[in-house]
Amino acid sequence: MTGHEFLHSPGPTHIPDRVLRAMHRQPLDLVDGRLKAIAKSCFDDLRDVFRTSGKVFIYAANGHGGWEAALANICVPGDVVLVPEIGHFSASWADHARALGLETEVIAGDWRQAVDPQRITERLREDRAGRIKAVLAVQVDTGTAVASDIAAIRAAIDAAGHPALLVADTIASLAAMPFEMDGWGVDVAIAASQKALMCPPGLAIVAANERALAACAALPRRHRYWDWAPRVGDEYYTLFCGTMPEHLMFGLREALDMIKEEGLAAICRRHARLAGAVHAAVEVWSEAGALSFNATVPSQRAVSVTAIRTAEDIDAARIRTHARESLGVSVAGGLGALSGKAFRIGHLGDLNEPMVLGCLAALEVAFIELGVPHGRNAVRAAVEHLAKARAE
Ligand SMILES: Cc1ncc(COP(=O)(O)O)c(C=O)c1O
Repeated sequence: MTGHEFLHSPGPTHIPDRVLRAMHRQPLDLVDGRLKAIAKSCFDDLRDVFRTSGKVFIYAANGHGGWEAALANICVPGDVVLVPEIGHFSASWADHARALGLETEVIAGDWRQAVDPQRITERLREDRAGRIKAVLAVQVDTGTAVASDIAAIRAAIDAAGHPALLVADTIASLAAMPFEMDGWGVDVAIAASQKALMCPPGLAIVAANERALAACAALPRRHRYWDWAPRVGDEYYTLFCGTMPEHLMFGLREALDMIKEEGLAAICRRHARLAGAVHAAVEVWSEAGALSFNATVPSQRAVSVTAIRTAEDIDAARIRTHARESLGVSVAGGLGALSGKAFRIGHLGDLNEPMVLGCLAALEVAFIELGVPHGRNAVRAAVEHLAKARAE
């Protein structure tokens, strides 16, 4: 295929050339001061991205590794965790917790809107013995494109006067939408390199505050690789529990430079603007009745991904395959209960207006070629949204 391929999956995302170039080098000796300086500055800058003065831990792992690292440091088998369900990833995280031997309670959701925080308060109030150790909340569920209000979940825990730790999955939201780890009282936050952090997959990043570190210290037994306790100081072999994933760190250093240059506030504004363009287009496509938003509450629609449901007689997987194979635009498919019933446009990370417009226009070509009914002036609506938002 000629020209650029457009990767509009919600992770892995498009990697900036700068990040790719930063990784194109020989490894450094493990005790080389330059390597230590790169790693140290990444730990420091990540604290700024999480907006925390807590500790940051980096693992050679994917997002699932991040989930496991968080749970392995605050819970032991038999502990109870509470998961407000907003989609495939909150459900998978609950499964993961179960597999680790945790008693996992899910506050069931319909995958189309966030769980009402009041339900969290009610469940915690019933837990008079204080058995629930942690609430596991996903900020943006990439499967459903529903965003939850993490600050409201903290308020819900506090309203119950319950000591549960708040653990937030920010894998699809960190550096795309506001996140205030300390300001919102989040005890543990989890991110992964391949989303809005603009790096290849392979790094799980976990931040923990004093409460979480104290919970870790009190555990009777810890898992060697995930354990936070030895991952301190400036002995870098120990900090990474072995060899540092050097090239991913070279890439991360460059990506963090880019994040600093643009600034977190501007990054959040860009994501909101680009998401607004996608939402404006989907609104128009929906007019013909065959396509619709999965997230029913507009204020809960994620800035990083949009999940679009297709009518019964339309195979969402066909749209995805056609767009990728014949137009060079990769969007994601539906996950779990939405498998075959939805496709998802990722709009996070290293992205600008023409990339989003290109994706929307190419999808429209696919709709026409596949006979998918859709409202006609969607790309125009996206263009108008962008022009207006850029002028504000
Ligand atoms: C919100 C969220 N949590 C967790 C994960 C799991 O991450 P990974 O696939 O890197 O293990 C993903 C992956 O897309 C995700 O979007």
